[in-house]
Amino acid sequence: MRVLITGGAGYIGSHIVRDLLDTRDYEILVVDTLEKGSEKNIFSGTKFIKGDIGEDSVLESCFEKPVDAVFHFAAWKGAGESMDFPEKYSLNNLNGTMKLITKMVEKGTKNFIFSSSAAVYGAPVTLPMDEDHPKNPENYYGFTKLMIEENLKWYGKLKGLRFAALRYFNASGYHPEGKVLGLEKTPANLMPIIMETAVGVRQSFQIFGDDYETPDGTCIRDYIHVSDLASAHILSLDYLQKKNESLIVNLGSENGSSVKEMTDLSEKIIGKKLNYTIGPRRAGDPAKLTASSGKARELLNWKPKFSTTEEIVRSTWEVYKKEFNL
Ligand code: UFG
Repeated sequence: MRVLITGGAGYIGSHIVRDLLDTRDYEILVVDTLEKGSEKNIFSGTKFIKGDIGEDSVLESCFEKPVDAVFHFAAWKGAGESMDFPEKYSLNNLNGTMKLITKMVEKGTKNFIFSSSAAVYGAPVTLPMDEDHPKNPENYYGFTKLMIEENLKWYGKLKGLRFAALRYFNASGYHPEGKVLGLEKTPANLMPIIMETAVGVRQSFQIFGDDYETPDGTCIRDYIHVSDLASAHILSLDYLQKKNESLIVNLGSENGSSVKEMTDLSEKIIGKKLNYTIGPRRAGDPAKLTASSGKARELLNWKPKFSTTEEIVRSTWEVYKKEFNL
C-alpha cells in the first residue's frame, strides 16, 4: 500500500507519519513546503517531496506512482489570521484541496483522510458538541473546512471518493516517547505559547480574558493529544477500506480544561512561575467548547490513550527542553 501525506512534516502530519512508520508496512510519500513544518520531521523510511500541492508539477510528481490513500494536512490553520487574510486561506485550503481531490479522482485514488476542525461549528448551541450540531463557522478558516467537507460529499456521490473528515478539537501534546522533535514554526496556539514563554522565546503571554462564565473565568477547551489524533487517522483508513463508506467524526477528549488550569499545570510540570498577564477577551472565543466523540469511539473503536492534561503538558515540555538544551 502506498500513501501520500501532505503537510507530513508539520505538527499533526508528522505524528501520523511517525505512527504509520512504526505500525504499518506502507510505502510513505510526504509532501511539504516546510513553511511551517520542520526538516527534523522528515523521517528515514519515507520519500520526501519539498513543494506545494497547489503547483501542478508538484502534484503530478506526488501521483507519479499509484497512490492508495491520501492524508491531507497541508493547509493553514490560524482562525484569527484567516479573518485578516482570507485570500491566503482560499488559495491554499480551498483551491489546494480541490486540486488535490480532483487529481485523486483523475488517478483513481479512492481514500481521503481530511484534517477538518471543530471550527466548522462556530459558537456552541449545545454542549458537548456532537456531529449534528449546527454548522455556522465564525471564522473563514472554519468556513474553508466546511466547504471542503461539502465538496467531499459531492465527490463521494459523483466520483466514488471515500473520505473521513476528522473534526479536531484542540490538538496538543507531542509524541509520548519523544519520537517527533520538530517544533512548529511561529505557533499560535496556547500550549506552544506557554512553552515559548517558559524557554524565553517570549517574554510573557496573555490569558485572553478572565471574565467568562466559567468557574475560574477563563475559557474552557477540549485538549486532545496529537498521538490520539494519529491513531484515529490510521483507524479511519482501515474503516474506509473495510466498510467502503465515508465518515465524519469529532475527535476530542470529552474533557474541558480552562486556560488558567493549563497555565497552572504547566508551571507545576515545568517547575517555575511563568510570566503572564490577563488581557482582554479575544474576538470569536466562546467561553466553553467540548466534544462529544461517541461516534468516533463507536465506529472506529477509538480510545484516546494520551489525552490527560498532564501527558499533554509533559510531552510538550520534553520536546521544548530538548530543543533549547534545558
Ligand atoms: N489563549 C490565550 N492566550 C494565548 C493563546 C490562546 O489565553 O496566547 C486561549 C484562547 O483564548 C482559548 C484557548 O487559549 O481560550 C485555546 O486557544 P488556541 O488558540 O490554542 O485554540 P482555539 O481554541 O482558539 O482553536 C483551536 C484550533 C481550531 C479548532 C479549535 C476547536 O486552533 O482549529 O481549537 O476547539 F477549531
